[in-house]
Amino acid sequence: MLPENMLKLGLNRSAIRELFEYGKKRSEEIGKENVFDFSIGNPSIPAPDCLTNALKELLENEDPVLLHGYSSAQGDAGVRAAIADQLNEDYGAKLTADNLYMTCGAAASLCISLKAVLLPGEEVLTFAPHFPEYKVFAEGQGGVFKAIEADREHFQIDFEKLEKAVTEKTRAVIINSPNNPSGVVYSRETLEKLAALLRHKQEEYKREIYLISDEPYRELVYDKETEVPYVPAIYANTIVCYSYSKSLSLPGERIGYIAVPDCVKDSRNVYASVCGAGRALGYVCAPTLFQKAAAMCTGKTADIDIYRKNRDMLYGGLKNIGYECVKPDGAFYLFVKALEENAEAFCENAKKYELLLVPGDSFGCTGYVRVSYCVAPETIERALPAFGKLFEEYAAGGK
Ligand SMILES: Cc1ncc(COP(=O)(O)O)c(C=O)c1O
Repeated sequence: MLPENMLKLGLNRSAIRELFEYGKKRSEEIGKENVFDFSIGNPSIPAPDCLTNALKELLENEDPVLLHGYSSAQGDAGVRAAIADQLNEDYGAKLTADNLYMTCGAAASLCISLKAVLLPGEEVLTFAPHFPEYKVFAEGQGGVFKAIEADREHFQIDFEKLEKAVTEKTRAVIINSPNNPSGVVYSRETLEKLAALLRHKQEEYKREIYLISDEPYRELVYDKETEVPYVPAIYANTIVCYSYSKSLSLPGERIGYIAVPDCVKDSRNVYASVCGAGRALGYVCAPTLFQKAAAMCTGKTADIDIYRKNRDMLYGGLKNIGYECVKPDGAFYLFVKALEENAEAFCENAKKYELLLVPGDSFGCTGYVRVSYCVAPETIERALPAFGKLFEEYAAGGK
């Protein structure tokens, strides 16, 4: 007898992975250039030169035994200090190495943070549309997952719904700004309102409610005026989950960190619980080589200008055709209204035009589809006529 929940997770691949595999198969059949694969959030631009140079330097100059060996469980002290310095410079964060815990990417950051704060049966809230794995991660750590629908006009927080959803069992609220899949960025004002509500609920229920800020897209914003505020400065009980997967185009290398700032209530114990959760989950340590390489690239990103151009071309193109979509301020996704109520049926139909789109259902939001624009610009150029044909089919009532 096997645990049913684990078996189910393993047997039912995620909708995104399923489509990604379909895209690979279809590319073999009709050629990669004829498949418009907008399914997965795999960065389409290479890691920056600083990363390649850092790796070369490390491989040439560092003792290989140390470089490929275990680091301290919480990560190399020099690496953590370098990251803390950068966060202090960027945000006035007041962090030291002791506030940071190196992880194998944001997925690990989230699982470890949730395990560190959740008692069995406590609630984890987030806002739909949301990264589908939040449910898996929260339930995997013994939590009860609840997604609150965001307002469908702007995909911002619906505070009335949030007010009603927080209970005496709520332990954590996950936010993700810039957002996957909507591309929406929470303004300082929104975060202040969220902080006020959570502070009020903490008082009411006499318990800590942690804001888990999932920030793999922190630097991926495209307009100068878009601010991505440092969340712990707005809400004290914030745990930051960061990853270099997107900012340095390194998703396969599995590197990120958790920040537990001193402003978190009882922060030394929360940090210790993070270390314990990492241990219990068997992480041992994050990859040493990539800890060091990432630390040598603090403050740098891959060339995100390409994503900006892609966003403008795809958003402009789809709006011109007649599709409805909120303009994304960050990340590399568009969340587009499907042309029929059933987004799964719509995505199935889009395959006729070789368009691979992900139904919003797995993001907890029906009637929409996610389009990942971390693709070659030519893919967007070639795909726009296909989007046009799909639109015409619905306009003509062919569907
Ligand atoms: C919102 C969000 N959180 C977490 C992750 C996991 O990222 P990582 O590759 O760093 O584990 C992703 C990956 O796409 C994501 O979009």
